Amino acid sequence: MTEPQSAPFTPSPAAPSTVSRDIVIDCDPGIDDAIAILLAAACPDRVRLSSITATHGNVGLALTARNACKVRALAGRPDVPVHAGCPRPLTARVHDAAHIHGGNGLGGVELPDGEGGIAAAHGVDTLIAEGERGRTLVAVGPLTNVAVALIKRPDMATRWRRLVIMGGGVATGNVTPAAEFNIFTDPEAARTVLTTTDWPQAARPVLFPLDATHQALLSPDWIADLAASGGAVCRTVAAMLGGYETPSTAARGGKCVHDAMAVAWTIRPDLFEARAARIDVVTDSGASRGRTVADFTSREPTADIVTGVDAPAFTGWLKERLVSLDA
Ligand code: RIB
Ligand code: CA
Repeated sequence: MTEPQSAPFTPSPAAPSTVSRDIVIDCDPGIDDAIAILLAAACPDRVRLSSITATHGNVGLALTARNACKVRALAGRPDVPVHAGCPRPLTARVHDAAHIHGGNGLGGVELPDGEGGIAAAHGVDTLIAEGERGRTLVAVGPLTNVAVALIKRPDMATRWRRLVIMGGGVATGNVTPAAEFNIFTDPEAARTVLTTTDWPQAARPVLFPLDATHQALLSPDWIADLAASGGAVCRTVAAMLGGYETPSTAARGGKCVHDAMAVAWTIRPDLFEARAARIDVVTDSGASRGRTVADFTSREPTADIVTGVDAPAFTGWLKERLVSLDA
């Protein structure tokens, strides 16, 4: 595996034309998923959150779908439909992260359900319908819904305007030393999406691995300042972050909102640096199960891997956007 050189941060080129203003978020709320949804809602002049699809992941599907409804209410967006997707991985046993996101998936913070409930259409069918409308798909949970959509409709690879994924780790993992949670939870789905699907070269999937997301951590001071600067929404986010037990980032003195960075890329790609690579996903039953292997030397790259984050700019902008939700 060729690891990215730790070059100084240089911003990506201007917003690529392959990003649609209309985005759909496939997620497993999940505290950082919740902040990703709030961020999308906080940038109405840059993105339109068309729909949310829930997948199994951090907690079970019933909870992730209900949490998505709670977060859209917190964001003041009861108009955004929430659809429930797949309740389990393609072949793997269910695996969750309740020990990190809390038993209720939101750090123990209780939120009102809000209006609207869960829409009737299945999340997979919604991802297909959104693809037919040329939306950008931001996938920040296990990739089961995305894989099933591609199996049902392989042409989705050319219909979604762009696919942005939070998942994987080039030189690190957070479930095992080799594997990151979203990929580890459904490696067969990840392999379907990242390895056995032919994506247009001009619109390769964008992958946010842990190597990138760990570059921007929210410090205790940042969290306290958010609560002091905003109103009910910011105080709720601070409370959720208080219940977000990520041992790996705790050791680094901050909390990592992985999923918010994937949404941020659709709005502020200038905050990130990416490099092309060929991606493979390990699906055997050994110690490397769920590993993402990135070959940055390949002449046939299959994804754009985010390797650099302007952390101060991202965390400052995130706070300013979240505070705007309380304005
Ligand atoms: O490894 C981090 C990812 O797993 C994030 O998407 C988090 O929400 C969990 O789903
Ligand atoms: Ca997630």
